[in-house]
Amino acid sequence: MLEKIKQTADFLRERINGELPKLGIIMGTGLGALSDLIDNKQIIPYSEIPNFPISTVEGHSGNLIIGNLAGKRVLGMQGRFHYYEGYDMKQVTFPVRVMKALGIDTLFVSNAAGGMNKNFQVGDVMIITDHINFFPENPLRGKNHNELGTRFPAMTEAYNKKLIQLADSIAAEKGIRLVHGVYIGVTGPTFETPAEYEAFRIMGADAVGMSTVPEVIVANHAGMTVFGISVITDLGGKEITDVPTHEEVQKAALTAQPTVLSLVHEMVARC
Ligand code: HPA
Repeated sequence: MLEKIKQTADFLRERINGELPKLGIIMGTGLGALSDLIDNKQIIPYSEIPNFPISTVEGHSGNLIIGNLAGKRVLGMQGRFHYYEGYDMKQVTFPVRVMKALGIDTLFVSNAAGGMNKNFQVGDVMIITDHINFFPENPLRGKNHNELGTRFPAMTEAYNKKLIQLADSIAAEKGIRLVHGVYIGVTGPTFETPAEYEAFRIMGADAVGMSTVPEVIVANHAGMTVFGISVITDLGGKEITDVPTHEEVQKAALTAQPTVLSLVHEMVARC
């Protein structure tokens, strides 16, 4: 794994024009339009990057976008690798390892999620304050490479509190409605049964999705500072009869996109 990370990072260091970014952004469902805000961009398809898996899901294109966002150098991932696609945890989290090897020390992640918190509405933007790893494994299982991080990393502040405060103050200034919550990461690809949504709510989760947790575990292992956003694209629970679909999720994510873009843009400008 170490050799592959080095090979991919060397390739990108060579390919990337100009200064290397310090900020990485994983653009989740319907948030790919962040790339439209990136100036002077260089687009590198995943298919050209050695050791990178290929993204297969509809609505996710697979490109690295490197350029300037709000005056800062950023590396954006347009499309991510999901566990439900069949990738293993090492593949799902490989890009985060490569980001770290390139010198990226801050990671923004976004995703679409189903809401279980009874105060949430479709279209809400949720700042992730914490997560529950409900995947059947942990991306750090196996031999620990001390050069990548410690064997038993703390996950006490997996989502940086200062960045959460920054998001809150920007939202207050801009009049953006934000909610806070705990994200539970599951394999998918099924959406949850009503009983599962209910069980996850009772466990302490506010939203559920099929990504993010593996990448955030690895980013924390690597000592990166993390900020996460979920767009609530559907609601689940015992009293909710609406049937979630991939199309509905994409549509709701698109509706919330301008809000998320303006928040992320301002956060990048100030962080
Ligand atoms: N469950 C799991 N993943 C999701 C959902 C959901 O309801 N909505 C968007 N991603």
